[in-house]
Amino acid sequence: MKTRRLGPHLTVSAVGLGCMGMSHAYGGQDEQESIRTLHRAVELGVTLFDTAEAYGPFANEILVCKALKPYRDKVVIATKFGFRLDTSKKGANAMSGLDSRPDHVREVAEASLKRLGVEVIDLFYQHRVDPQVPIEDTVGAMADLVKEGKVRALGLSEAGSAIIRRAHAVHPISAPQSEYSLWTRDPEGEILDTCRELGIGFVPFSPLGRGFLTGKIQKPEDFGAEDFRRTLPRFSTENMAANASLVSMLEEMAREKGVTTAQLALAWVINQGDFIVPIPGARKIAHLEQNVAAADVTLLPEELKTLGDMLAPDKFAGKRYGDAAMSLTNR
Ligand SMILES: NC(=O)c1ccc[n+]([C@@H]2O[C@H](COP(=O)([O-])OP(=O)(O)OC[C@H]3O[C@@H](n4cnc5c(N)ncnc54)[C@H](OP(=O)(O)O)[C@@H]3O)[C@@H](O)[C@H]2O)c1
Repeated sequence: MKTRRLGPHLTVSAVGLGCMGMSHAYGGQDEQESIRTLHRAVELGVTLFDTAEAYGPFANEILVCKALKPYRDKVVIATKFGFRLDTSKKGANAMSGLDSRPDHVREVAEASLKRLGVEVIDLFYQHRVDPQVPIEDTVGAMADLVKEGKVRALGLSEAGSAIIRRAHAVHPISAPQSEYSLWTRDPEGEILDTCRELGIGFVPFSPLGRGFLTGKIQKPEDFGAEDFRRTLPRFSTENMAANASLVSMLEEMAREKGVTTAQLALAWVINQGDFIVPIPGARKIAHLEQNVAAADVTLLPEELKTLGDMLAPDKFAGKRYGDAAMSLTNR
């Protein structure tokens, strides 16, 4: 597996593995299948694994610990903090506001270290920027954890470029993480330019459009009643139907190129820059294997342009988040 740098401190596989769906958001979890997928990922040379205390909550960090403990020295484990969690609830319902106060940062880092069963968190992200706490205070607390050897590198999720710069001035940020895919291009321009300028990485989440850009999901009935995607505007019956013809074009181009639709969508993301390391979520080994192989799909500049124009985000109906979740992104 090819490797890429996330800032000066981390070298990771060109494609990581998003672990969220194994315990959270998408329903239908199967722990044994997830563990087999995590082990296969290590075998294939995947070294970046993405989790968060909020996934479950907690269950995903515990699962990652269980599966990856034997491979601790080979893997980079990224986790996130920053939601206030109501542990009497499950899944996204447990997220009840934001909390990036320095004391809370320290507290949740200790708890994540225990759940992950590690001495050091390789990459520690703030999950969402907390408007109540100056970013300097939060990153100051994160930097103290680095000094104490409890955290190796820092990240920010869904942060705008001004916040990334202010944070980076306190302590080097290795990688901002935000949604980025053919149908979600918000990071293009300011955010990606800032990462290039600062010489840091960028980690696209949901690079397969939460599964829609694989061509395998056509209507809300294709996933369970509890699936978080049912709450997202793009996954309404109406919007999925409106967006189907765009995915058909992607499928057609993938067929011509002899790759799967998911691989073409992922290859487009991978080819946006050598500082970019997507973390597609996959619970099934067959999906993981396809996604890993996407790192070797070559796209010519004209193919990248055709794809980018053909699937321009303004052609897709529906927003990526509803208003409440959108208001938590720092834009
Ligand atoms: N920072 C944040 O706020 C944030 C938000 C969302 C996600 N994330 C992170 O980003 C990771 C990835 O995002 P995501 O899981 O939301 O979306 P995604 O990677 O765009 O898509 C995942 C979906 O695509 C399916 N899939 C994966 N590979 C496939 C393939 N080759 N063919 C067909 N279907 C395939 C998966 O199915 P199976 O699972 O059934 O294999 C799953 O339903 C998460 O796991 C999480 O770690 C971060």
